[in-house]
Amino acid sequence: MSISIAPADRVFVLTGAGISAESGLPTFRASDGLWAGYRVEEVCTPEALRRNPALVWQFYSGRRADCAKATPNPAHIALARLEAQLPGRYILCTQNVDDLHERAGSRNLIHMHGELAKSRCERECGRPPVQDHAVYARLDEVPRCSCGGRLRPHIVFFGEIPLEMPRIEREISRCTLMLVVGTSGSVYPAANFVHWAAQAGARTVYIGPESPLNADAFTHILAGNAGEVLPGLFTVA
Ligand code: APR
Repeated sequence: MSISIAPADRVFVLTGAGISAESGLPTFRASDGLWAGYRVEEVCTPEALRRNPALVWQFYSGRRADCAKATPNPAHIALARLEAQLPGRYILCTQNVDDLHERAGSRNLIHMHGELAKSRCERECGRPPVQDHAVYARLDEVPRCSCGGRLRPHIVFFGEIPLEMPRIEREISRCTLMLVVGTSGSVYPAANFVHWAAQAGARTVYIGPESPLNADAFTHILAGNAGEVLPGLFTVA
């Protein structure tokens, strides 16, 4: 199987937790997944942050520690190489909060669900997110913003609006090829992107070992692990 990309094509890529699975980072919804041991509502909602910020920070500190140990796999690298071949007509939108895409060399990249390596004021005082790789053992170690609010992880919690949606919608409306890699199609609005691309007339390809919930919307499904399927998949004219 090969995917040919013509000079007139514009490529939009959406990735999910599955692309980082071969780097050793567990996905969310597998039986031994990321949420195992935690309830989503306890660590990934605005209410959780209000009620028990120590638990929220414990969870995301753990994710930071895991991410620091992981390295990009052949799937991240294949996408960075594809971008290099398609200057100005390639964009990668990831639901992942790890930084493996940028460490593999991806540049035109949107983190629609936020970034593990950043924190921001929990009072939403307007100051921009700051780089923060720290792993906090206790809540009183978490720094304060200059306005006095405690920092929170720069993560889009359930119930919050994903980042950069206007730019994402614009890019999807003009793409001619959408590649979706390693996401179960269970979280919106990302699960709708394939429908928007199909409405715009794009080819839509899913890559992953299992069918996603929105499988019917794709023109092609390539079954397999991203790190095995993506390298060598593209022919760029
Ligand atoms: N290559 C490609 N896909 C894989 C691989 C692999 N090696 N291993 C697993 N997968 C697939 C699984 O088959 C599954 O469909 O990755 C998908 C992971 O699905 P989820 O755990 O639901 O992760 P994701 O879809 O990224 O979750 C979306 O939900 O919890 C929130 O904000 C969080 O961004 C996350 C969002």
